[in-house]
Amino acid sequence: MSNVRTSTVPTIDLNDGHAIPQLGFGVFQIPPKDTASAVSLALEVGYRHIDTAEMYGNEQGVGDAVRASGLDRADVFITSKLNNGFHRPDDARRAFAQTLSELGTDYVDLFLIHWPLPTLYDGDYVSTWKTLEEFRQDGRARSIGVSNFQVDHLERLVAECDVVPAVNQIELQPYFHNTDVDAYGRAHGIATEAWAPIAKGKVLNDPTLNEIAGRLGKSPVQVALRWHIQRGNIVFPKSVTPARMQENFELFDFQLEPDDIEKIDALDRGEEGRDGLHPDTMDYIPS
Ligand SMILES: NC(=O)c1ccc[n+]([C@@H]2O[C@H](COP(=O)([O-])OP(=O)(O)OC[C@H]3O[C@@H](n4cnc5c(N)ncnc54)[C@H](OP(=O)(O)O)[C@@H]3O)[C@@H](O)[C@H]2O)c1
Repeated sequence: MSNVRTSTVPTIDLNDGHAIPQLGFGVFQIPPKDTASAVSLALEVGYRHIDTAEMYGNEQGVGDAVRASGLDRADVFITSKLNNGFHRPDDARRAFAQTLSELGTDYVDLFLIHWPLPTLYDGDYVSTWKTLEEFRQDGRARSIGVSNFQVDHLERLVAECDVVPAVNQIELQPYFHNTDVDAYGRAHGIATEAWAPIAKGKVLNDPTLNEIAGRLGKSPVQVALRWHIQRGNIVFPKSVTPARMQENFELFDFQLEPDDIEKIDALDRGEEGRDGLHPDTMDYIPS
């Protein structure tokens, strides 16, 4: 492949001995027919970590792009997630096999339970997690983790299961720091992945981020993403716009000083800043 840049992206060590690139590319809401071309562009820019999910319906495009890139499979970190309708162990086993088939690979780097769904399945996300432990055991998932798990959900897994999740992928952006869940993860060796890291583009017009960005010759989105990086969060901003893919990748040639970090920390609005669905009540099962 021409034009491949040497990746400057640091990695985060996970609690199972594997490492994950701290910056990746998210493909939520990229239509299946457009996914292969978007991921191909992202790989050309230099991204080596792709975040997809069964629910997004675009795993096949991700797999196609990785194969077409000519990169070694081992050089691209691929995450997918179990769909909400498949929490029962036999369904999860079938769905996971389907994920591997859609991606056209014999392993994923990371597989997550997408939502805990505590109001469904008699609140039993523990059996689901034990099924993911099988996938890790047989090597088809190098690492396993969860997404949108609250503190009480994590506590149950830690108490009742053998494997502590490698990551928890949660909503976390400048207006919603998800402090309790993030702190629990950090205290228990669970890496935080921040979804919707730029609040779906809302940070663009933020006066604080714009003031810092103007001073540093960066964009407000780059400042927000850099704030995540300096907190140790794993991020995978989504964009189908080539110039933005490039912009979002250029985070490693500048640094935020403590004063500026404090200003961004002060943007947290707690629960009011949450933009997405609440994990305690989310019960959507795609048809
Ligand atoms: N686990 C979960 O439940 C969950 C939930 C949501 C998301 N996620 C993951 O997190 C990833 C990121 O979250 P997200 O896609 O919801 O939101 P996001 O990355 O915070 O924001 C994406 C939006 O911002 C725009 N954008 C991107 N870069 C920009 C830039 N430099 N300047 C201006 N606008 C920019 C994009 O527009 P264009 O595409 O039009 O350029 C898109 O509308 C997802 O793709 C998915 O992998 C996981």
